[in-house]
Amino acid sequence: MGVLERACLSGKKRMSSKRTTTVGVIFGGRSVEHDVSIVTGHQVMRAFDAERFEVVPIYIDRQGRWYTGEPLRELKNFQNEVVSLKGVHSAILSPSTQHHGLIVNPTAGRFEKSELLRLDVVFPTIHGSHGEDGTLQGLLEMADIPYVGCGVLASAVANDKILSKIALSQQGIPIVEAVSFSRGEWLEAPDRVISHIIHALRYPMFIKPATLGSSIGIGKAADETMLRAHIEVALSFDRRVLVEAAVEDAVEINCAVLGAENAIQASVLEQPVSWDDYLTFEEKYTRGGGGMKSAERLIPAPLDEDLTAKIKGYAIQAFRSLDGRGTARIDFLVKPEQHEVYLNEINTMPGSLAFYLWQAQGMTAREVVERLVELARDAYAEKRQNSYDYQTNLVQLTQMRGLKGVKGTKGSAAAP
Ligand SMILES: Nc1ncnc2c1ncn2[C@@H]1O[C@H](COP(=O)(O)OP(=O)(O)O)[C@@H](O)[C@H]1O
Ligand SMILES: [Mg+2]
Repeated sequence: MGVLERACLSGKKRMSSKRTTTVGVIFGGRSVEHDVSIVTGHQVMRAFDAERFEVVPIYIDRQGRWYTGEPLRELKNFQNEVVSLKGVHSAILSPSTQHHGLIVNPTAGRFEKSELLRLDVVFPTIHGSHGEDGTLQGLLEMADIPYVGCGVLASAVANDKILSKIALSQQGIPIVEAVSFSRGEWLEAPDRVISHIIHALRYPMFIKPATLGSSIGIGKAADETMLRAHIEVALSFDRRVLVEAAVEDAVEINCAVLGAENAIQASVLEQPVSWDDYLTFEEKYTRGGGGMKSAERLIPAPLDEDLTAKIKGYAIQAFRSLDGRGTARIDFLVKPEQHEVYLNEINTMPGSLAFYLWQAQGMTAREVVERLVELARDAYAEKRQNSYDYQTNLVQLTQMRGLKGVKGTKGSAAAP
């Protein structure tokens, strides 16, 4: 009996004859937010109704190697070398549409068989690089498998702090002015970069890697020495960096959204409480244990109705303007007295999937994951209305004329 029959059987015993939906939950990843994703992944796997969903754990380790297998269901197994445990098998998600799933033991030798495990839906729960940035979404588009969350474009733009600011400000959504530059520009002329920054902005300033998260690589500078030091730190994590003025005396307000197109709902607002100068990784995740859900926060955020409605409106507008689908958590910096609101960032795969925000308005984690699977299937059905097939006689023509007939040579057929 194969690896996965055994893995699936463990579930099947408790299954009715109704066909279950096989969901591949992908977590971990080649990202600095690897550990956060392991927690989110397990919160998602646990949310599914085992009677109707067959959850397949898919773990990507810090080096980007893929695995599946029973032991990956247990969070406790991640305290040690989980991939060396018995029952954990290497696996790849096939980009080829005829497979529609995972190939387990892809390089199996004489003593093991590689097996194909069909996935009805894939649920990415990776934060940051190689998972929340459009790359994994691209693989899933190639593989033609329905998947939860934002598509390639919305994921890539939202994950990029420089491009998302440009896209959002173009929509009239208030953002904090910023200056950005690349590692190449810094290495070529650091003084020019510094003079450009201090010309455009005033201290204190925040320095951020363009495409990271969980406050990793983020720094706050009150003078030039700190600015230069934090730029070096940020450049050790990313080739592009953003510097923006600090919004002083601001409170942080987060809003989750769920849906797509004209059916996007906003959650209650939360106000994370920060005791440090700003919300650090430790404050977000390690204070109370249990991932993002553990950070200290006020729900609902103590804001007046108008301001609450304004922020929810910006959250929905921002998500829609990026052609977002599924879910996201949209973070704001707010000065309540002045009714000043700035959209800080969009997290298309938020920590703990922001379950605690939906629970605050009576929606269970199970309802959230099932709604997300539904949205994934809707998006997939929508995409199937596109035709990707266009028949031409170009090959025959080129065959007759010979390859030298290709574009650029006299009498060549028009090439795209
Ligand atoms: N312009 C700013 N003004 C004030 N605080 C800021 C500003 N930018 C970031 N912060 C603080 O730094 C934290 C992390 O920054 P953020 O842009 O959210 O990066 P990440 O994607 O790593 O979460 C925020 O939660 C907030 O506490
Ligand atoms: Mg943030």
